[in-house]
Amino acid sequence: MLELNSDQKLKLLFDYVGKIADESRLDNLLMLMADLGRELIVADRCTLWLYDRGNNQLWTKVAHGIPEIRIPADTGIVGHVLNTQEEYFTNDPYGDQNFNCEVDKETGYITKSLLALPLFDNEGNIFGAYQAVNKMSSSGEFTKEDFGTLKMVASYSEKSLTNAILNEEIEKTQKEIIFLMAEIGESRSKETGNHVKRVAEVSALLAGLYGMGQDEIELIKMASPMHDIGKVAIPDSILLKPGKLTDEEFEHMKEHTSIGYRLLKNSDRIIIKTSSIIAHEHHEKWNGRGYPLGLKGEEIHPYGRITAIADVFDALASERVYKPAWPYDKVRSLFEEEKGHHFDPVMTQLFLDNFQDFVDILENNKD
Ligand code: C2E
Ligand code: SIN
Ligand code: SIN
Ligand code: SIN
Ligand code: FE
Ligand code: FE
Repeated sequence: MLELNSDQKLKLLFDYVGKIADESRLDNLLMLMADLGRELIVADRCTLWLYDRGNNQLWTKVAHGIPEIRIPADTGIVGHVLNTQEEYFTNDPYGDQNFNCEVDKETGYITKSLLALPLFDNEGNIFGAYQAVNKMSSSGEFTKEDFGTLKMVASYSEKSLTNAILNEEIEKTQKEIIFLMAEIGESRSKETGNHVKRVAEVSALLAGLYGMGQDEIELIKMASPMHDIGKVAIPDSILLKPGKLTDEEFEHMKEHTSIGYRLLKNSDRIIIKTSSIIAHEHHEKWNGRGYPLGLKGEEIHPYGRITAIADVFDALASERVYKPAWPYDKVRSLFEEEKGHHFDPVMTQLFLDNFQDFVDILENNKD
């Protein structure tokens, strides 16, 4: 087989780029990228390896001619690439100490040349590796130029790929949440479903104003509803008490933050991990006088700082067993007073500058 010339490469790219941009299903997308990469650099196989942080494994869902493979994340050339975050190739794998011949043993395939490069998401975090196996041109050898070509494919596809991974996460997470809820039993928090929805919408709007990207906005929208999940462990006599809590009761109430954190923290799903941070930190205060840890300023995760504003905003504007709903001008005044004390000053200012948009969210999602 021959190397492609630049016109042929360009034509192939045009054929694929539209398809890649439109594809939201993870396995289809991985297959498209594998196909395009293989054709462009004239390899026998291309594979996208994804990093599963929870299990410290690299896995490939679809690869040319083989079913899902999982390998420990610190083995093989892909493991080496993940570790060093640098591209790597060899035209003599069996003489290369980084090569893991276990995959060949399992698949019966013989690797003669192998090239791999790291894949990074929008935040610059590595999420996998793009690998090509067995150069099919007459030389049979990969060259540095092949990196350039594959990198171009990766850069075209990275946005779609991270979105698809996130979608996949959302599906798995929904299942996991349902399971978790079932385990906890009947949810005891008496706040309505709309409270949770309002906190999600308000958090998402504020995240966007703060400059977070679409992926993070979606993440915080999915994760913030679980901020008070720890309240399931607080007795009704406290949770539903019509009047003011005693100091002792309030001390007990404060535990809903650490309880929520402990319930959620062991998940590998990024959305649930994010929820655990939010459950833990949504009652921390910018001035360090919040709970449970008394974190201060930027020690508090941005997601915690955002959800703190969203949660108090909705709590004040809504009726609770222990308080009537506040009028919006009184709510606004509290945020003006608490800017830089309870709440992040930059976020509070953005919130105040767009106050009417936030009010609209509450009005459109009334109980
Ligand atoms: P929540 O009802 O969701 O309220 C969330 C947060 O909104 C409160 O966190 C507080 O920062 C703010 N907030 C709510 N109502 C008021 C208010 O009238 N004035 C002011 N300045 N801020 C308010 P906080 O204080 O850490 O409370 C956490 C949770 O403890 C509350 O969640 C609620 O479930 C419970 N709680 C707090 N105070 C009372 C109370 O007096 N009686 C009862 N029954 N529950 C209370
Ligand atoms: C390796 O990267 O060394 C092994 C993985 C493979 O051969 O596909
Ligand atoms: C692959 O198709 O990339 C894995 C098969 C192998 O290299 O042994
Ligand atoms: C409270 O009154 O519940 C505490 C609110 C605050 O200190 O900002
Ligand atoms: Fe709370
Ligand atoms: Fe809440």
